[in-house]
Amino acid sequence: MVKSLAVERAGSSAIRDLLEITEQPGIVSLAGGLPNPAAFPAEALARAAAAALAEDPVSALQYGPTEGLRPLRRWVAERHGLGADGDGGGDAHVIVTSGSQQALELATRALVDPGGLIALADPAYVGALQAFRAAGVALEAIPSDADGLRTDALAERLAAGARPALVYVVANFDNPSGSTLSAERRVELAGLADRYGFWIIDDDPYGELRWNGRAPVALRDLTDRTITLGSTSKVLAPGLRTGWAVAPAEVIRAMTILKQSADLHTSSFNQQVVHRTLSEPGFLDAHLAGLRTTYRAQADHLVGALHHQLGDRLSVVAPDGGMFLWAELHDASADTASLLPAALERGVAFVPGAAFGVESLHPTRMRLSYATADPADLDLAVERLAEVVPVP
Ligand SMILES: Cc1ncc(COP(=O)(O)O)c(C=O)c1O
Repeated sequence: MVKSLAVERAGSSAIRDLLEITEQPGIVSLAGGLPNPAAFPAEALARAAAAALAEDPVSALQYGPTEGLRPLRRWVAERHGLGADGDGGGDAHVIVTSGSQQALELATRALVDPGGLIALADPAYVGALQAFRAAGVALEAIPSDADGLRTDALAERLAAGARPALVYVVANFDNPSGSTLSAERRVELAGLADRYGFWIIDDDPYGELRWNGRAPVALRDLTDRTITLGSTSKVLAPGLRTGWAVAPAEVIRAMTILKQSADLHTSSFNQQVVHRTLSEPGFLDAHLAGLRTTYRAQADHLVGALHHQLGDRLSVVAPDGGMFLWAELHDASADTASLLPAALERGVAFVPGAAFGVESLHPTRMRLSYATADPADLDLAVERLAEVVPVP
């Protein structure tokens, strides 16, 4: 049996294991964090792929630079408000990675030695927990609420002597909690980073999916100690495996060294396709508008159906963006992990709160994604949930 320390520490993702079950016919899944396949921009990607092969086949098919193709890095830099290269900004601050998951893994290894400390909100994104655990770091679980990570609790831990090398947040539409870190807490977190000298990873695959209100100030605009992770997975398609990190040049250099040994570089062809698609005039704005409309309609539908059928048994907050609801059951003795087998038997899947636990098990919580199912399936899912969610 192959089981190195890293394999043992990482464990298998409860969600990936669950996804195998939910692929069985007849199950309506609110479990996966999968984007809606009906929204994949297949035609735009096909145009870009044909153009890449016709116009620039060598760059699309040859080995490329580890940091990523320059036009894509430049596009990312501009999207993040960084000036052109040469003025100390621009693409020196960008590395293109194989999904933002790889950026997370590389940044972790670049910034934290095994045995070092990472602080993060509890609950947390499962892929981050896996990456951190595989890297052999210790985790400091910080409580969180509807405004994200509780910076007052973090400040207390720091004052008591905790010295994380890194604080990890999903500041926009967190996975799983759906929360957005408030502007006040962003200012406080950035201030703590400057005072105590830790890095902040702001993992941001969902920020573009906002349909209501304005985004609070970005953490990278508050402190230079920020690594912002971005991804095309929720905006174009996850199968492209194209993401990036935006960070101080010294961090990008360190990540580049580690990426060389991981995969040399991210697929040149995919980078070409992504860059051509994102920079097609008018495409991105129109595509994002369509995505926001779809997700908003699905979110409203699921929230409405849950209120209508289960309002006395669970609470959800109507989201302003992202892909998730973090439902709370009213029965304080409920345990969503033990409700799951009965739910699967009735043909509906969710992810129990325990899957996202850093220290706590969140037994009264379940993560529900409205992204993939259409309104008829969302109704069916809620009907089936109503058969298993207990009355308090
Ligand atoms: C918070 C968060 N970070 C990172 C990822 C991974 O994204 P990518 O497909 O870019 O690797 C996900 C995917 O669900 C996520 O929810």
